[in-house]
Amino acid sequence: MKASQMGLVSIWLSGLMLIALSLYATQKLPSVKPPLLIHRWPNHRSSGPRITIFTAPGPFSGSAGDRQKVAIRSWLGLSTDVRVVLFSQDASVVPSIGSFGSRLIVDPNIDFTFLGTPFFHSMMVRTRLFKSDISVFVDPETILLADFISSLSFLHRLHRDWLFVASPRKVSHMPFHLNDDGTQWQRENGKRVRTKELQEIVNGNLQWSPHDGKLILAWNNKGSPLHDGILPPFLYGKGIHNSWVMSEAMSSQHRFVFDASWTISSFFIDHPENRSNDLINGERGWEYDGNSHLGALYGSSYFREANFSGLARLLRCYNRYLFIDPTSYAVNPFGQGHEVGLLKRRSFHSWRMKKVSACAARIKSSENLPYLSLKNQLKASTKLSFPFSLESLLLGIADENKTIVLAVAGYSYKDMLMSWVCRMRILKVTNFVIYALDQDIYEFSILQGLPVFQDSSAPSEISFDNCHFGSECFQRVTKVKSRMVLKILKQGYNVLLSDVDVYWFKNPIPLLSSFGPSVLSAQSDEYNKIGPINMPRRLNSGFYFAFSDGSTVAAMEKVVKHAATSGLSEQPSFYDVLCGEGGSNRLGDDKCIEPETNLTIHFLSRDLFPNGAYEGLWEKRNLSEACLEKGCFVIHNNWISGRRKKLQRHVSSGLWDYDISTRMCKHNFEHSHHLLGS
Ligand SMILES: *[C@@H]1O[C@H](CO)[C@@H](O)[C@H](O)[C@H]1NC(C)=O
Ligand SMILES: *[C@@H]1O[C@H](CO)[C@@H](O)[C@H](O)[C@H]1NC(C)=O
Ligand SMILES: *[C@@H]1O[C@H](CO)[C@@H](O)[C@H](O)[C@H]1NC(C)=O
Ligand SMILES: *[C@@H]1O[C@H](CO)[C@@H](O)[C@H](O)[C@H]1NC(C)=O
Ligand SMILES: *[C@@H]1O[C@H](CO)[C@@H](O)[C@H](O)[C@H]1NC(C)=O
Repeated sequence: MKASQMGLVSIWLSGLMLIALSLYATQKLPSVKPPLLIHRWPNHRSSGPRITIFTAPGPFSGSAGDRQKVAIRSWLGLSTDVRVVLFSQDASVVPSIGSFGSRLIVDPNIDFTFLGTPFFHSMMVRTRLFKSDISVFVDPETILLADFISSLSFLHRLHRDWLFVASPRKVSHMPFHLNDDGTQWQRENGKRVRTKELQEIVNGNLQWSPHDGKLILAWNNKGSPLHDGILPPFLYGKGIHNSWVMSEAMSSQHRFVFDASWTISSFFIDHPENRSNDLINGERGWEYDGNSHLGALYGSSYFREANFSGLARLLRCYNRYLFIDPTSYAVNPFGQGHEVGLLKRRSFHSWRMKKVSACAARIKSSENLPYLSLKNQLKASTKLSFPFSLESLLLGIADENKTIVLAVAGYSYKDMLMSWVCRMRILKVTNFVIYALDQDIYEFSILQGLPVFQDSSAPSEISFDNCHFGSECFQRVTKVKSRMVLKILKQGYNVLLSDVDVYWFKNPIPLLSSFGPSVLSAQSDEYNKIGPINMPRRLNSGFYFAFSDGSTVAAMEKVVKHAATSGLSEQPSFYDVLCGEGGSNRLGDDKCIEPETNLTIHFLSRDLFPNGAYEGLWEKRNLSEACLEKGCFVIHNNWISGRRKKLQRHVSSGLWDYDISTRMCKHNFEHSHHLLGS
């Protein structure tokens, strides 16, 4: 598994209260509106529209890297009015872009799956930070020719909001090459190729790209929204998402939607030997399923039935732009000052219009764009599943010291999980994995691109209505945590178990691992300000760090065994087994030593790792500030009864990093100072 970019997190159920509580109303949670910031436009002098082209390139290596560089050069060479924004966190991208100049910007602030695939919905939100007249999405390997700019200049003058799609051509061989600044195509001998000749070669090729993910999407920014619906978390470049935007835009009717495939010349080199095979097969195959699953899940009926073959088409005949209705052949020509109107059948009297009309008909009959039908592409019926086992996930995500962060979650805590995941992303903690307690959270996590697994030993009949605190069901649920920790320790990985209601101010792993093997460090549930922190039943099993060593494994075996026969949740087992009943194994004020296994239990400082009752921190006017002063690593949102209250406390304290209304991490809305090239 090539998981160089794993950046996700997981969650976990708070040791005590999770499953039992009922769903809270998500609409009560805050949502953020992205600020409309104006990003500086370098060297803008001309009167043409300012165009920003967005894409998310793959790594800049090998032949795919070369193809991407040519494509980007072709965009920048079109006009100084073009700016390019690359969404990427890949280390190979920044060193490769130096030669492109200041009109190229790299923005890493979007969400990615743990395999590094970018999320389309978070890219769409980021586009709003880059103010321009026209926004365009282009596949990173698609080359644009000069008629792109002339068409956009025409469209810019229309007094209406619009959105268009255009399909690039698939070309197997391009005999010419693009010069260094992207402004000229040249022959082998260095002689310039005329634009017209180039366009004829490209457009003479009848092969369209049949892939939704390759469509060019462009819209002007006069003020109307693109569509009304909320974008599902589609993966970029994997198909379905462009059709979704088109059909939502059509049904929302804020804009005139049309197809510009016949006027905008674009192509990509498709050579069978160089096709990246992970696109269709292999471990990333599930990503396709993810998008079609989302389409089925969140697509309107309009979307499911969308048949784009009736879409108006933009054509250029005898130097005039016109829109035709492909079913009726009706032509709506635009002279100066004409508005885009509905496409109606018209009669043309003039000889000139007959010529134009004949031209349109010829174009229409000469080639048919193989429009994607969404039929058979959307499948929500099949169960989503990951091709990754726990073993392969651990191998892929563990850090250099074989340490992982384990979060455990059920569906009722999905938003808290996401907030926790967003926090991990902010802290750049990528070695986390999520243990899904039910099928719903498993599928939810897959769709959010998180590294998640299920386990057959987890209780299967968890029902949120019947799994109350103290019930047998509840006890079984809490016990799966220590069993899973033990299983992972035995595979040779150190585990930091963190409930998802533990907010991380900073990464505690360096500190926790510094205690060394044969020491299990755990949060103390002691709420008193002074006195020992290792008193009976004060060990919190919702946040602890366990080394993968003989003593720890042996001690965890004892805990799991004890919990299995105990009528209580697992938390008392932790204390009673490790520190002895009544604290008989206590050592000093903050330790215990389990005599049989020699495992030391280190209770973490309550100032650095406060629980939810300590010093009334959660009630402070500014919790972050209070914790900052203490030097907190984390704070646990426990010692509160009821999931709704817990959630409210989390949100109102400002420690909430997920925006439910857009399904993304809040930090994506922030204007970043780390944009390169700006
Ligand atoms: C395919 O890859 C090879 C080796 O990387 C490269 O030499 C060749 O130019 C590529 N062909 C195309 C059409 O990109
Ligand atoms: C879409 O509509 C066209 C004509 O309007 C029709 O010929 C075609 O069969 C339709 N395609 C699908 C997939 O329904
Ligand atoms: C791994 O352990 C070494 C030595 O304790 C430490 O310096 C390093 O920062 C650790 N790496 C990570 C990713 O925590
Ligand atoms: C624990 O430590 C004692 C004394 O250092 C030693 O005799 C014993 O073998 C150790 N037990 C384990 C399980 O390592
Ligand atoms: C709380 O304090 C932090 C750190 O001093 C500060 O950045 C933040 O703006 C404060 N929040 C509020 C709501 O005052």
